[in-house]
Amino acid sequence: MSESKYIIAPSILSANFATLGEEVVNVLNAGADWIHFDVMDNHYVPNLTIGPMVCKSLRDFGVKEFIDVHLMIDPVDELAQSFIKAGADLISFHPEASKHVHRSIHAIKDQNCKAGLVFNPASSLDILENVIEDLDLVLIMSVNPGFGGQSFIHSSLDKVEKVRKMIDETGKDIRLEVDGGINNDTINLAAQAGADTFVAGSAIFNTDNYEQTISTLRAQIT
Ligand code: DX5
Ligand code: ZN
Repeated sequence: MSESKYIIAPSILSANFATLGEEVVNVLNAGADWIHFDVMDNHYVPNLTIGPMVCKSLRDFGVKEFIDVHLMIDPVDELAQSFIKAGADLISFHPEASKHVHRSIHAIKDQNCKAGLVFNPASSLDILENVIEDLDLVLIMSVNPGFGGQSFIHSSLDKVEKVRKMIDETGKDIRLEVDGGINNDTINLAAQAGADTFVAGSAIFNTDNYEQTISTLRAQIT
């Protein structure tokens, strides 16, 4: 996935859902690289959000940019296929939510969609050793999944450093994304630990000037 070195992916969880199409267009025009699309099922996480129909609606609305779908759902496989049909570019899921992680990854990749694996703050990275070469992205959660606007969990930085080493050892083009509590104070901590892709929800959508917010966020990365 050769793209720009650092990617900012606004999480639409904190957008105004009543005007979602416009919110997405505005944040992309303001300099966002990807759209991060959080899917919650009130089962794997204690919250409920949006499904593949909303992803398709964004495509029908004219959104052509990269849609990074973060599944916080159990089970994974059937809805992953629905999101591919709805126009997702990348689908990441939590290994705890799939009985057969390798199969779930390849079911996504077989449909020419990129695949990512997500690790919660308390999740071990053991499983990653077995599948890292198959992935396009590793996502490290820096909050517990389920809600926007939570505080960054600093111990996640150790995990980012470990995954950076693992990715570098593969020599492959695998992005390292961090999600949760990313703002002007934390983005560079994540970047210094080795992350190259940054999800930010409340830090972007809770401000009035998305362009200024995104360029300020980018400027923190040294
Ligand atoms: C949390 C979601 C995040 C969330 C981040 O479960 O996966 O993508 O929107 O929100 P902030 O950036 O506000 O922490
Ligand atoms: Zn997310």
